[in-house]
Amino acid sequence: MGDGPSETVGQLLRAARDRLGARSESAGLDAELLLAAALGKPRSFLYAWPDHVPTASVRERFDHALTDRLEGQPVAYTLGVREFFGLELAVSPAVLIPRPDTELLVEHAVAHIDAGHAVADLGTGSGAIALAVAHERPGARVLATDASPAALAVARANARRLDLRVDLVAGDWCAPLADASVDCLLCNPPYIAEGDPHLAALSAEPASALVSGRDGLDALRAIVAQAPRVLRPGGRIVLEHGFEQAAAVRALLAEAGFRDIDSERDLGGHERISFGRLRD
Ligand SMILES: C[S@@+](CC[C@H](N)C(=O)[O-])C[C@H]1O[C@@H](n2cnc3c(N)ncnc32)[C@H](O)[C@@H]1O
Repeated sequence: MGDGPSETVGQLLRAARDRLGARSESAGLDAELLLAAALGKPRSFLYAWPDHVPTASVRERFDHALTDRLEGQPVAYTLGVREFFGLELAVSPAVLIPRPDTELLVEHAVAHIDAGHAVADLGTGSGAIALAVAHERPGARVLATDASPAALAVARANARRLDLRVDLVAGDWCAPLADASVDCLLCNPPYIAEGDPHLAALSAEPASALVSGRDGLDALRAIVAQAPRVLRPGGRIVLEHGFEQAAAVRALLAEAGFRDIDSERDLGGHERISFGRLRD
C-alpha cells in the first residue's frame, strides 16, 4: 500500500486517506479509526506519535481493513463496535449499525418513562434503544423483540457486557407481548421503500433491517395496527420513520385510535419521529 516497512503513522494515514478518498466521504476519519484499531491504540496515539513506525503485522491488519472498507464494509463492522447514547455497543453484519438519528427517539422516550414503567423496544437489533432506556431509567422494566435470532444474540451479548437488564424475546413485532402490558412502545423499524436508490450505499447491512414494502411503510402499518392490543390505556408509542413519512405515520396513529399525536424534528429540521397516546 505504501513505500514499505519504514513508513510512519503519518505517512500511512496520508496514503490511506488518498486510497479511501473516492469511496468514503469520511476518508480521513475512517483511516484514523482503522489505523488506531490495527495498532490497538486510541486515536490520540496517531497525533502524539506521527513518526512511529508500525510493525509489519500492524501494517498487514491495516491493509486488510482498508481493502474491506474499499469493498463497502462499514468501519463499525470492522471495528466491531459503535457508540450509541454513550454506550459502546458491539455490532456485526447481523444488525443495523445504530444511527445518531435514533438518539432523538431515545431522548423523547426517556422524558416520559418513570420507574416501574413497562417499556418494549420492537426490532431491537443490537439492542441500542432498549439498552439506552435501561441505562437511563434503571427502574423501568424493558423488554425487546426481534424477528432475527442472530440480531437477538448480538443484543443479548451487549446486555451482558454492559450489565443492563433487558428481556429479549424472538418474534414478530408485538406478537410476544401480552395484552395491555406496556406503558411505552418504541420502535425504529425498517422504513426504506423497495428499490430506493439510497439502498445501494447500505448493502452491507441486513435488508430485513432496512426495507419495508413498496412505500417503506409496511412495518409501520403492522406495528401501529398491533400496538393498541399491547398498550395500557393512555400508553405511549414512539416511532422513528423516514423524513418524508411523518404525515403518513400520524394518519396511521389517528386511524388506530391514538390521541395527542405529533412529530418531532431532528437537528436538520426533518420530522423523524412520531408519537401518540392510546385513548384511556
Ligand atoms: C431499523 S432496524 C433497528 C435496529 C435497532 N432498533 C436500532 O435502532 O439500531 C429494524 C430491526 O427490526 C427487525 N425486524 C424486521 N422485521 C421484523 C419483524 N417482523 N418483527 C420483529 N423485528 C423485525 C430487524 O431484524 C432489525 O433488527
